[in-house]
Formats: sequence, structure tokens, C-alpha cells
Amino acid sequence: MTAKTFYLETFGCQMNAHDSEKVVGTLLSKGYTQVETPEAAELVLYNTCSIRDKAEQKVFHRLQQFKREGGKGKTFGVLGCVAQQEGEKIFEKAPFVSLVAGSASYTKLPEMLVQLEAGARRVTGLSLDTEETFDTPFTRRDNPHRAYLTIIEGCDKSCAYCVVPFTRGPERSRTSESVLAEVRQLAALGYSEVQLLGQNVNSYRDPSPAGWDFATLLERVGEVDGMRRVRFTTSHPRDFGKSIVDAIDRGPALCNHVHLPVQSGSDRILNAMQRLYTRADYMKRIEWLKNSPRNISITTDIIVGFPGETEADFAQTLDLLNQVEYDSIFSFKYSPRPNTAALAMGDQIPEEEKTRRLTVVQEQQRALQIRRNAEAIGTEQEVLVEGRNAALGQWIGRTSQNRTLNFTHSVAAEDSLIGTYLPVRVTRAGPNSLAGESVISVM
Ligand code: 5AD
Ligand code: SF4
Repeated sequence: MTAKTFYLETFGCQMNAHDSEKVVGTLLSKGYTQVETPEAAELVLYNTCSIRDKAEQKVFHRLQQFKREGGKGKTFGVLGCVAQQEGEKIFEKAPFVSLVAGSASYTKLPEMLVQLEAGARRVTGLSLDTEETFDTPFTRRDNPHRAYLTIIEGCDKSCAYCVVPFTRGPERSRTSESVLAEVRQLAALGYSEVQLLGQNVNSYRDPSPAGWDFATLLERVGEVDGMRRVRFTTSHPRDFGKSIVDAIDRGPALCNHVHLPVQSGSDRILNAMQRLYTRADYMKRIEWLKNSPRNISITTDIIVGFPGETEADFAQTLDLLNQVEYDSIFSFKYSPRPNTAALAMGDQIPEEEKTRRLTVVQEQQRALQIRRNAEAIGTEQEVLVEGRNAALGQWIGRTSQNRTLNFTHSVAAEDSLIGTYLPVRVTRAGPNSLAGESVISVM
């Protein structure tokens, strides 16, 4: 096989999106060319997600499409979490697939490509037994202003619902030197925002003798010249220490936003989920954040319908949402996942009931967001300009709190606004975004 054009479609979280940027860079460095459609490609890759059943079904749907429509002469590869979870079974389900590799094997991607090019039909990268992280000088980033950067891979927790420890393997932190070198390099390339990534960034532990914890790393990253905004995701409440809030208080470049997934407001369910914290532990962290002199926006993830969740447990989740007043939430119906502890738990909640609870959560939260966003009317906020909606004559900006703020700009439109920072006065608010007008008039 001499496939030299490739197509890559990505599903799932930011970690996956960033893995894809590294995979693309690696392929380009090996002489491949990226194309926009699977039809135009010789090598077709899917970087997959298996966090919920629906996400997993998507890739099999894509593969089935090709089974029907042909795809002759093409080489197919399944990467990411579904690849790791299903392993060689994928070759049985979709015999035209020749590469199955999980994220813990991407460092071996160049060797796997050589095998594919030599005509191998079943190439796998499925070992989770690794101490390595996937660092590459070839990362091809999608956005020229905002960069993802991995600081820790894998997860050592064992939340009863979660597939990630099985798909991304054990925790491996990058050295602080390597992280800082990449941040400096990004700043030199003109990036002004960096988002530090990991399944659990709070358990970052510098493997070099410096031995920095996450708060120290965060503070140092925030001090890099040219980095105007630093974000991080995702946090686990158990490992989220006060020192992180202190770092935000001290570091002007650290953004006013913390995503702190709570999952449930009921201690009984948190215990069954093996989340390793109580509601009171969680609320203490919320108190640190709310007591900060910075106006830190707090967001979260919620699962409804975990096995055994009663009406009373569910009411506690609603109560917690009211108590914290999150700026936004991601809410999901519990989805049983292979290998996980919750799979075997009794008292699974019927699908219709999960749907009902999800609707209740989302309606309550929507009302809260309408109210909270309206409170922002009249304030002035700095945005990073990320795009333009020509049809609406608006620019798309993002605030330090990670809210979308669409705005008009009095001066004739030029694309050059993208990537710049502007003060914007908020004039309107909806449930999911703000709108306003820039307060600078360029002469
Ligand atoms: N079912 C539903 N939601 C899940 N999440 C993780 N695993 C599951 C599952 N099995 C949610 C959690 C997590 C987010 C990334 O996805 O809320 O924080
Ligand atoms: Fe999906 Fe989790 Fe894998 Fe991200 S780490 S792609 S959310 S299963």
C-alpha cells in the first residue's frame, strides 16, 4: 500500500481533539497529505469516543456507511477510545479495518504506518502498559490563537460509571520543563491562549526532580511572556486544592473559569459512583472559588439516572445546582459502559425516567442561566475575538469566564480583528450567550 492521502474525523472530548492534532502532525511529517473528505483519501481514520453508548455508536455507523458504499482500495483505521475498548473485535465487526490503536500507543504511530504501507492487514496498538506520554514536535494545531497542551494523560481514579481508565490507561505526567518549553514555543508562534489538558489535571505531578504539583505548574505557565490566557480542564474535586484558587488569585493570565464536575448532589450516589468526595467536600471547594476576589465562573458535569438514584437523590442534585448557581453545565443520562463497576449494579433506572430527569435538570438550569446571564448586562468584558458571523454582522468573542460574547464593532469589518483582545459592553443576554458592542472606536 502506498496511501499518502488521509482523512481524519474526530469524536469526543478536547483530549481527543488534541490527540488528533498530534496524529495529523505525525502523518504530515511522514509525507502524508490531509484531505477534506473520506472519498478523496486513501487512508481513512476515525478518532473515536466511548464515554457514552451514543458516542460509541457513531463510529460503527460511519464504518457501516462505508461497508454499503464501498471504500475499495482504501485503508481504514480506528483510533482512540473505542479502538482501545473493543480492540481486535473491531476487525470482526468491520473486516475492512486494518488499524486499531488506542491513545496510549500513538508514540508508535510511525511504525504502525510503515506496517500498513507494507500491506499489513491487522495492525494494532493496544497496550496500556506505558509510562510514556504522546509528545511530538509535529503537532498541527487547528486554531492559530488558542492552543491545547497535554500535561497529563490517563486516569488513576475508578469512578464506577467511567470507561476512561480502561481506554486511556494509567496516569502519566509530562515533565514541567517539557510543558514550559512548549508553552514558550507557542507564545513565540503567536498563540496567546493555552488550555492545559488532562483527564484529571489536578493530580499532575512533575516526574522531574522539581516535583511540581498542578498549582505550581499553573502559576509558572501563567508567567510565560506572551501567554495572555491560561485555562485548564478537567478537574477532579478530590484533588482540587486551595492552592489552585490561590494561583488564580495571583496570576492575571489565569482565566476566571473552573470546570469542576460534581456528577451528583447526593452523598449516597457520590459514594456509589466512587467519586471519593462528599457533597460537603465539594461545597468547600465552591466556597473557595466564590470567596476569590476574581470573578471565577464555575461550570460542571451532571449524570442523571445512575443505578439506584431515587427521587430523593435526584432532588439533591437539583438542590445543589440551585445552591451553586453554575454558569453552565453539561448534563448526561447515565450510560452503562463495558468493564465498569456500575454495569453490574442492580436497580438500573428506566430510559424514560432518565430522559425525564435530564429534561428537569436542563429546564431548571436554563432558567438559572437566563437570570445569571442577564446580570452581566451593562458590564464591560474583555474578549478574545475568535470569529465572525458575516450574516449577522457580528464578531464572535470569548470572555475570560469562557462565555461566548457576540458583538458588533463600529469600524468597518476586517478579518484582522480575529485573534485580538477587545473590551466589549454587554447589552443583551440569552440562556447560552451574551451579546454586546465593542467599546473601542479605532480612529
Ligand atoms: N454515562 C453518562 N455520562 C458519563 N460521563 C462519563 N461517563 C459517563 C457514563 N457512563 C460524563 C461525566 C463526565 C463527562 C465527561 O461525561 O459527567 O464528567
Ligand atoms: Fe470520550 Fe473519554 Fe475517550 Fe475523551 S477520554 S474520547 S470523553 S471516552
